[in-house]
Amino acid sequence: METFADFREQSLPLIEKEMESFINDHTTNNQLKEAMLYSIHAGGKRFRPLLVLATIRSFNKEAQTCDYQVAAALEMIHTYSLIHDDLPAMDDDDLRRGKPTNHKVFGEAHAILAGDGLLTAAFQLIAISQIEMHQKILLIQLLSKASGIQGMVAGQAGDLQGEARALSLTELADVHEKKTGALIEFALLAGGILADQPAEVVDLLGMFAQHLGLAFQIKDDLLDATSSEAELGKKVGRDEALNKSTYPGLLGLEGAKAALNEQLTLGFQTLETLKQTSSEFHLELLQDFLKQLQL
Ligand code: IPE
Ligand code: IPE
Ligand code: MG
Ligand code: MG
Ligand code: MG
Repeated sequence: METFADFREQSLPLIEKEMESFINDHTTNNQLKEAMLYSIHAGGKRFRPLLVLATIRSFNKEAQTCDYQVAAALEMIHTYSLIHDDLPAMDDDDLRRGKPTNHKVFGEAHAILAGDGLLTAAFQLIAISQIEMHQKILLIQLLSKASGIQGMVAGQAGDLQGEARALSLTELADVHEKKTGALIEFALLAGGILADQPAEVVDLLGMFAQHLGLAFQIKDDLLDATSSEAELGKKVGRDEALNKSTYPGLLGLEGAKAALNEQLTLGFQTLETLKQTSSEFHLELLQDFLKQLQL
């Protein structure tokens, strides 16, 4: 069986190449280019673009250049969200992906612009890719929904408002689903669409992603409370310092772990349902990925 780690090793260079060449070929201002490439080159787990490609692979299809471009666009949006998330006006962080945050190196104004640049470049990259027209428009629609005022941007607003007032568990789940879940959901939906899957299958991929997305942010909250700067490449204990509403804050460490496990179990179950629904679907790669989120 191909493990997620093997798959990552094969796919990563092509994702990096699409991001890097697009930014290099299209950015007309050198300082802006440097700021964008700094955060892109800082690495990160790259698991959102990998999920696009792993989903395509799970239907036994070989990824094409345009698939790598959609994956690259998603990682560019994610990287922009981190640059802005770290700004003094937001989470005020000085370490990201093991390096000083973008604004610490390039100043706040250029960090804001690097984020703006990555966000808009992502849509330009999809728009110029060789994807069949109706799929391309659908992908642009889904990515703008996931990134913007119904998705990540709305979630980030809710997250900041959750510093001043303790959110209820329902409100917090909604913030997590938007700020983190929405981009993860796009990864699975895009993979299903690019693999030409019917709506019923794409919907199930979306359901899987909702469990995965919530699990991912609960784990991020848990790691902020229990892990180390060396392990995460970012400062820990920030959520408590900023008085954020989080799963461990609301449910305690054990309660948050139970909530994480519940989402992972639902995720594994959804993969089984997908397998029963589509004879083309092989669940092993996504299952292996989900196992990595177990504590
Ligand atoms: C961090 O995302 C922000 C969250 C949504 C929790 P990742 O943990 O995927 O960060 P990188 O890309 O690996 O740096
Ligand atoms: C970040 O959530 C979510 C987005 C960037 C959209 P966090 O603020 O918890 O992410 P970290 O912990 O700084 O990586
Ligand atoms: Mg934040
Ligand atoms: Mg943060
Ligand atoms: Mg966090």
